[in-house]
Amino acid sequence: MNIAIIGTSYVGLVSGTCFAESGNEVICVDIDQARIEQLKAGHIPIYEPGLEELVRRNTKEGRLQFTTDHKQAVSQSMVSFIAVGTPMSPSGSADLTSVFKAAEQVASAAVGYHVIAIKSTVPVGTNDRVREAISRHANHRIDLCSCPEFLKEGSAIEDFMRPDRVIIGSASEQATAILRELHAPFVRTDNPILIMDPRSAELSKYACNAMLALRISFINEIANLCDVVGAEINEVRRGLGTDRRIGSQFLFPGVGYGGSCFPKDVQALIHTARENRLDFALLEAAEMVNARQKRLLVDRVKTHFGNDLKGRTFAVWGLAFKPRTDDMREAPSIVVIEELLAAGAKVRVHDPEALENARRIFGDRVSYHTTNYETLDGADALLIMTEWNEFRHPNFQRLRAALKNPVIFDGRNLYDPALMKALDFRYYSIGRRPV
Ligand SMILES: NC(=O)c1ccc[n+]([C@@H]2O[C@H](COP(=O)([O-])OP(=O)(O)OC[C@H]3O[C@@H](n4cnc5c(N)ncnc54)[C@H](O)[C@@H]3O)[C@@H](O)[C@H]2O)c1
Repeated sequence: MNIAIIGTSYVGLVSGTCFAESGNEVICVDIDQARIEQLKAGHIPIYEPGLEELVRRNTKEGRLQFTTDHKQAVSQSMVSFIAVGTPMSPSGSADLTSVFKAAEQVASAAVGYHVIAIKSTVPVGTNDRVREAISRHANHRIDLCSCPEFLKEGSAIEDFMRPDRVIIGSASEQATAILRELHAPFVRTDNPILIMDPRSAELSKYACNAMLALRISFINEIANLCDVVGAEINEVRRGLGTDRRIGSQFLFPGVGYGGSCFPKDVQALIHTARENRLDFALLEAAEMVNARQKRLLVDRVKTHFGNDLKGRTFAVWGLAFKPRTDDMREAPSIVVIEELLAAGAKVRVHDPEALENARRIFGDRVSYHTTNYETLDGADALLIMTEWNEFRHPNFQRLRAALKNPVIFDGRNLYDPALMKALDFRYYSIGRRPV
């Protein structure tokens, strides 16, 4: 099948590449000319494990192309997936400007019957609004569907190729059949394709992210309670997660959720509820807990060193909002580093993939280091913000020798408190009994 993908970031580029990998002819479109030039030259503008090789192979074999010309891409295709951004607007609602624009561009470029599937995360009712808006631009019959994407950065290809389920929100049998056929290669192990109405599909995506955000804020609250009552979060987590009604995933305490999805999707769902005169108090609490959790390490740093951090230097390991991605959108590291800088401290940072994105945020206000050990020279303490695998077993002797004070603020519970004590570190982690 010939497919156009509108937007070539984490969702668009991964979806387009995986559709090409299953034999389709795919043209990916973006308005960002530099990004398309990069892709044409074989460079991948984002870090996603395994993506580069797949893009190279499918480009070489002629199934994957890149362009800035919507007309060229859409006129050759029968299906267009919209995968543009839906960032948070100042009111907290999802900004749908790019979705409407992309849908109009597709509608006016389509020649003959065309399916538009919205992969971007959009509030309930968006399909209906977009359908209405494009009716002025379309010369042919267009079926508009909701096809929300559930991939996770860091394992996006695996998630796309082996999804837990595919959701198709559609009111058209013809469009449903086309989308079902396109997704069939990815659900061969009987994972379901769920067909529903577009509104339910749109809301399913938000319900998922909201539930996951709730779990994170919940376990963070339990961890904070562990800290004050002398319980051990890892024991509590096991006690909780082995209950089959609850399960063990997404129950790791830390420095709060970030990324390009949870924060904005939680806000957008709260906003949708408000617009409909509903008070989604549970989600508002999850957001409030998360904002507080993002400041936890800074509060601990100030309790240890005092509020005035002038003359202090801190090493920060990990900047991305989670491992295996370069994405720093809404990352807890941003809150922590900004607070340290505001209190007069100097900050030395390292991340295996996110340094380029970090430069755009902090400019020359922090120093950047290509290895984690380099950040330690002359630092008063180490803060760990992202659980990259390479931080799990460092050379503690080297760490101790480089740091001015043997103090670690671990926002991801990477080390064993007993080992830290034996090595004579002052070790702060989250929800674990001090040894
Ligand atoms: N990133 C994720 O992990 C993830 C997972 C599931 C769902 N989503 C959702 O998918 C959507 C896309 O997310 P993302 O992180 O891939 O996007 P992004 O915000 O990183 O990038 C969007 C891309 O779309 C391009 N674009 C904007 N308008 C365009 C137009 N009219 N025509 C062509 N290209 C256009 C931009 O230039 C940019 O490259 C969002 O709604 C997001 O919530 C994201």
